[in-house]
Amino acid sequence: MPKHDTPLLDQLESGPWPSFVTDLKRQAKTKDQCWDILGQVELSYKDRVTHWKHGGIVGVFGYGGGVIGRYSDVPAKFPGVAHFHTVRVNQPSSKFYSTKCLLDVIEMWDRRGSGMFNMHGSTGDMVLLGTTTDQLEDIFWELTHNMNMDLGGSGGNLRTPSCCLGRARCEWGCYDTQAACHNITNTYQDELHRPAFPYKFKIKFSGCPNDCVAAIARSDFAVIGTWRDDIRIDQAAVAKYVSGEYVPNGGAHAGRDWGKFDIKAEVIDLCPTGCMSMEGGQLKIDNAECTRCMHCLNAMPRALRPGKDQGATILIGAKAPILEGAQIATMIVPFIKMEGEFEEMKALVEKCWDWWMEEGKNRERIGESIQRIGLPTFLKIMGVEPLPQHTKEPRSNPYVFWKDEEVEGGFDRDVKAFRQRHAM
Ligand code: HEM
Ligand code: HEM
Ligand code: SF4
Ligand code: SF4
Repeated sequence: MPKHDTPLLDQLESGPWPSFVTDLKRQAKTKDQCWDILGQVELSYKDRVTHWKHGGIVGVFGYGGGVIGRYSDVPAKFPGVAHFHTVRVNQPSSKFYSTKCLLDVIEMWDRRGSGMFNMHGSTGDMVLLGTTTDQLEDIFWELTHNMNMDLGGSGGNLRTPSCCLGRARCEWGCYDTQAACHNITNTYQDELHRPAFPYKFKIKFSGCPNDCVAAIARSDFAVIGTWRDDIRIDQAAVAKYVSGEYVPNGGAHAGRDWGKFDIKAEVIDLCPTGCMSMEGGQLKIDNAECTRCMHCLNAMPRALRPGKDQGATILIGAKAPILEGAQIATMIVPFIKMEGEFEEMKALVEKCWDWWMEEGKNRERIGESIQRIGLPTFLKIMGVEPLPQHTKEPRSNPYVFWKDEEVEGGFDRDVKAFRQRHAM
């Protein structure tokens, strides 16, 4: 029997898609508080205003983040959701779980929470939705002691780092994304659990420029795999693509007849820098011009592979709209090696934090601090020489001015000589 009538929510079940309303009703059979969620959301739809109250700090002892407090502003009407806190659980690298681990989390959440969860949140964490304040310490104890899991990040801290599948399953991984993600999570436990930053800071690891975790669009510090030598070409395999023996794109575009594979139209002419050509049946790449866009490698994976001198490019400052509009990360360091304990990368992360913790305003992402203070200043802070590639987007002007002493041979200007060359 429905505890509350929900005519507005019921409409959401009429479409062809799975509906959270149906899920909640099913869950309400064993979890009474799910009726109160439905009731409260129905009231919000009617009143056109949220009834989740903002504010109220909750957490577990020793940590400043990981639990996001939620309270109802109509608790008398919906006592089941008077407290309805969200618990973020740090996902393992690349989200590989054992079945036992998943079953343990589900069992614990049925016992101590609403039983509802979402896999995975935008940052990657398992998001356990809805529990009461008195359950939090016990949940934390069970996660850390019995399940070998930890809370994720929330608030002005390092958010749960995340990575692509990388070398676990993908031939394009230019470094071990899982090792890097695991290492950085362990190294920066303090930054993850004790908020001390102006705002959130996300680090994401993609093994190659295909960027399967969308690091460039979503993370303050994006580590994207790349190589600095030449793309490896297997000319015999190129010939097999041309003759039709190999299906292009790993068969990803199968199911429709696109006609015979045309290497000129589908690969060479689509290279964004025009650095590919066919000469006497041999594929040639002018690697100095290649931007590592991955298009040709994706089209002919059996013929082309990343070079052998592999590492990562560091891009900084992406974010969704907060103070300013959405922003994609800016390339800051073209190449670092990703080896050992990832010391080269950690040195860069810490330079960012040292500067941003001093200069960043409250609730300002590092990309916004860079925007406000200027890319040239940020490059100086990072100890990086300006490069033509240091632009926010193609054809934008970062306004890098050189000082006299930075210009080889001096910088004396002779206005008369200039006017002779550029008549007014
Ligand atoms: C018939 C008259 C004019 C013509 C044909 C003309 C043409 C141009 C052209 C072709 C440019 C270069 C635009 C670019 O490369 O983006 C330019 C820039 C500029 N013009 Fe004129 N102009 C004229 C009058 C004026 C006047 C009267 C002023 C000032 C009172 C002026 C101030 C400027 C300035 C400040 C720039 C630089 C803009 C920038 O750096 O973005 N121009 N003009
Ligand atoms: C208190 C008065 C002024 C202030 C604070 C001011 C400030 C600025 C600033 C901050 C810039 C951008 C510089 C850059 O990013 O490189 C700029 C550019 C410019 N200003 Fe002004 N300005 C003032 C007065 C004027 C006046 C009176 C004129 C013209 C009669 C003028 C013409 C220009 C031009 C043409 C540019 C573009 C320069 C370029 O393209 O490199 N400004 N101004
Ligand atoms: S980002 Fe690259 S290395 Fe990582 S899974 Fe995607 S294609 Fe593979
Ligand atoms: S990776 Fe992209 S830029 Fe480089 S050669 Fe291939 S298509 Fe051209």
